[in-house]
Amino acid sequence: MILVTGGAGFIGANFILSWLGRNSEPVLNLDKLSYAGNLASLASLADDARHVFVHGDIRDRALVARLFSTHRPRAVLHFAAESHVDRSIHAPGEFVESNVVGTFTLLDEALAYWKGLAASERDAFRFVNVSTDEVYGSLEADEAPFSESTAYAPNSPYSASKAAADHFARAYAHTHGLPVITTNCSNNYGPRQFPEKLIPLMIHRALAGEPLPVYGDGLNVRDWLYVDDHCLALERVLAAGRPGSTYCIGGANEIANLDLVHTLCDELQRVQPPATGHYADLIRFVADRPGHDRRYAIDAGRMRQELGWAPAETFATGLRRTVAWYLENPGWVADIVNGSYRDWVGLNYGRRPEAERT
Ligand code: NAD
Ligand code: TYD
Repeated sequence: MILVTGGAGFIGANFILSWLGRNSEPVLNLDKLSYAGNLASLASLADDARHVFVHGDIRDRALVARLFSTHRPRAVLHFAAESHVDRSIHAPGEFVESNVVGTFTLLDEALAYWKGLAASERDAFRFVNVSTDEVYGSLEADEAPFSESTAYAPNSPYSASKAAADHFARAYAHTHGLPVITTNCSNNYGPRQFPEKLIPLMIHRALAGEPLPVYGDGLNVRDWLYVDDHCLALERVLAAGRPGSTYCIGGANEIANLDLVHTLCDELQRVQPPATGHYADLIRFVADRPGHDRRYAIDAGRMRQELGWAPAETFATGLRRTVAWYLENPGWVADIVNGSYRDWVGLNYGRRPEAERT
């Protein structure tokens, strides 16, 4: 079996659904069910014995050791993390705990387990450390996209914690020979994403007739990748990636936030128009995120050339699928919009003054 950490989160859950749809090999899913963990995303697996869920923390060394020795996974897909930049500005300690200490603990226990394997099992073992392009910092408009040789320059507490985790992953590969592969992926979107992130937040608020808060001038650029394409990329990395290596994964799909929100409003208008007006009328410019990275972009050449991977979805098809999923699953978001979610919206947006339209 494979061990997936953070499998109740956005990408982890989509990965497990994709994996079990395409493979017979079982998944052991270790997740602490933070605010972002949601077993409703995996409800379709309730009667599937190939999905084994363990409610626990990757920092719990005894638990992690026991899971390795009992279940003897042939690979780890490590997704578990605190993942939202805005939350890392308000409460960075959680990011150090889960992303740095958690990844270190997982690596250390993986190493102890790996050392005890037979030589052939050791050769086949993989630890895939799922990371982000945000570790590379921010690009100027005319700069070449990030690649595997770009120097790390994290700017937010989130990206700093992911960079620290990546450094530990690299060190365990280099020092001990643990077969670690780190992937650095661009912004994901798709079904089952927590509605604090840009696309599901805008869908949820537009349908509720609430203001759509665009940070700063709305010209920050992200490189968007449909989540299933990320999951398939990770499957390729697990199957054929070089241990000790890193892979940049991205959609070659750069869009400024304001353009994205307009495109999203147009799609919502097409499939579920409001009683009056246009969803785009709800767009409001609000105070910028402190330290807001201007542009991310990925050169996924190594993924393409070495592993034959390319995204299957365009932004148009991926966005259509995403909007359709949220419209077909209103209960999924409704169940999240509980007390703790409301607290977050109050904290992040309540005191964020609306800016003049530029
Ligand atoms: P998410 O916040 O939706 O989910 C994270 C999951 O990890 C949750 O289920 C949570 O309960 C779990 N978790 C957190 N801390 C834990 C701990 N200490 N022990 C056990 N479980 C814990 O995040 P996501 O968007 O699915 O991202 C998954 C991974 O992919 C993260 O490592 C993130 O840095 C990386 N990544 C995300 C994106 C993106 O656009 N979302 C892009 C590139 C890389
Ligand atoms: P986000 O989904 O938080 O991902 P990340 O910061 O990791 O790239 O945000 C994507 C972009 O959208 C980012 O430039 C910040 C911007 N943004 C807004 O303009 N308004 C919002 O309410 C949110 C959550 C994000």
